[in-house]
Amino acid sequence: NGTYYQEIYRPHLHFTPETMWMNDPNGLVYYKGEYHLFYQYHPNSKKWGPMHWGHAVSRDLLSWEHLPIALFPDENGLIFSGSCVVDWNNTSGFFEEEGLVAMFTHADGDIQSQSIAYSKDRGRTWKKYDGNPVIKNPGITDFRDPKVLWHEETEQWIMVLTIGRKVRFYSSSNLIEWNIISEFGAGWGAQVGIWECPDLFPLTNEETGETKWILQVGIDKGAHAGGSGTQYFVGHFDGTTFTPAHEKEDVRWLDFGKDFYAAQSFSDVPDNRQIIIAWMSNWEYANDVPTDPWRSAMSLPRELSLRKENGKDIIVQSPVKEIKNLYAASHSIDDLYLKDTELFKMRQPQAPFALEMEVDIEAGKMEFHFFTAQEGSSFVFGIDKERQKTYIKRTHHETVTFAASYEGLFESDLPKTLPINLQVVCDRSSVEIFLNNGQQVWTNLFLPVLSPDFEIMLQAINGSGTAKQVRLQELKSVWD
Ligand code: FRU
Repeated sequence: NGTYYQEIYRPHLHFTPETMWMNDPNGLVYYKGEYHLFYQYHPNSKKWGPMHWGHAVSRDLLSWEHLPIALFPDENGLIFSGSCVVDWNNTSGFFEEEGLVAMFTHADGDIQSQSIAYSKDRGRTWKKYDGNPVIKNPGITDFRDPKVLWHEETEQWIMVLTIGRKVRFYSSSNLIEWNIISEFGAGWGAQVGIWECPDLFPLTNEETGETKWILQVGIDKGAHAGGSGTQYFVGHFDGTTFTPAHEKEDVRWLDFGKDFYAAQSFSDVPDNRQIIIAWMSNWEYANDVPTDPWRSAMSLPRELSLRKENGKDIIVQSPVKEIKNLYAASHSIDDLYLKDTELFKMRQPQAPFALEMEVDIEAGKMEFHFFTAQEGSSFVFGIDKERQKTYIKRTHHETVTFAASYEGLFESDLPKTLPINLQVVCDRSSVEIFLNNGQQVWTNLFLPVLSPDFEIMLQAINGSGTAKQVRLQELKSVWD
C-alpha cells in the first residue's frame, strides 16, 4: 500500500490502526482460521478519548485486515479493555452451537462494571447482552479489564480482573453469572502504580514437561523503565486460588524496555501455543508520540515458553515463527573482533530487519547502535561486562522532541554469563531486543531523524569483544 510507505514512522511489521488513536490489545482469540485483534480505539482523535473496540483479523499474526469497529460506547458507558473466548459448548445459550463471547469493562465516568457481547458470525457483528452489566460496580474505583479463560480441570469459566493494586478471580458456568472466588496481589510484586490488564494462563516447560500458571499484570506507573510496564508471577492455579512459587519481593518484568504494556494472550490457539501481543507505548508519553495520521502500534506477537534458569522458572519469549514467512535477503557477516573503541558499521536496511549474533566480551563494554546517521540521534543497546549490566540509551534529536521521559538510560542485570546470543528486530520506528533466546526482552519505540543512510554500528568501549555468527535478515513488509 503506497501511502503506508510514505508515512515515515509507519511500521511495516507491527499492527497499527489506519488512522487515529489506539491503546491496549483486547479480545485476542483464534477462531476458524483467523486471529482476532480488537483494540482500545478512539476513532475521532489521535488522543485517548471515548473508547471503542477497533477490530482486525489475520491468518498469520502479521498481516492484518482492518474490519469495522466492533463495539461502540452506549448508555452503560465507554468500552474499556477486555477479552474474548470461543463458547464451544454454548454454555451461554446465545448460540445454536457455538460462537464468540467478549467480556469488557463498561466505564461510566468513574464507575466501572463488567459486561458481555456475543457474535454469531465470526466476529463480524456483535450484540451486547440485554442484562448488562453482568458484574455491577461494588464500590471500587479501579475495577476493570476482565480476562476470561476456560479452566479444563474444574470445567468452568474463570475470569480475572484488577482492583486497585491486586487482582480478583471469578468463576462462572455460563459467562453471565459470576461468583467471586479469590483475590491475589496485596503487597506482591511491583506496587507503585495501579494494576491493569491482568492475564492468567498455563505455560509448559518443553524440556521437563512441567506446567506452571502465569499471572501477568500491567502496572500503570513505576515499571522497570519508568511509567507503565508488565510484570508476572509464576505459580499454581487450582481453579480457585493463585499461589505464587516465589517471594513477594521477587519482581519479574516481562519486558525491560519502555514500550510494552497491557499485554494479552490469545485464547483458543491450536497446539497450546501461548502467544501475546502488547501495546507498544507508555502512558508517560503515548498521547504525544509524533506519528500521523495514526498513533500507537502493537508489539510483535510473541510466543512464550517456560525455562529453568538457576532453579527459577522464568518466561522466555521469541517473535512468532510466522515471521519466517517474511524473510527476504539474508547477509552473513564475518566474525568481528573489536578493541579500544574500534567501530564496525554496516548499512541499515530501510525495510524491517532482524539482526542476530553471538556476543562475547573480554573486557569493557560493547554497544550496538541502530538508526545512526550524520545528523541524528541513535538508539543504543549495550552490554557491560565489568558491571554485568545491559542497558539501552534513547535520546532524541531536537526535531523530534515530544516528552522528556522518552529519553534516558535504562539498565538491567545481564541475564547470563557471556557469551550470549542477541536478536534484534527493527521496524522503522521500533527496536525489540531478545537476549539469551528471549530470556530478557527490551521493547522500545524509536523515532529517528529520517535519513537515507542509516547505519548499524558496533563498538567496543574500554576493552574488546567479538561478535560471531552475525546475520542480518531483511524482512518483507506486510504491506507488500
Ligand atoms: C490500560 C487501560 C485499561 C483500560 C484502558 C482504557 O492501558 O488504562 O486499564 O481498560 O486502558 O482505555
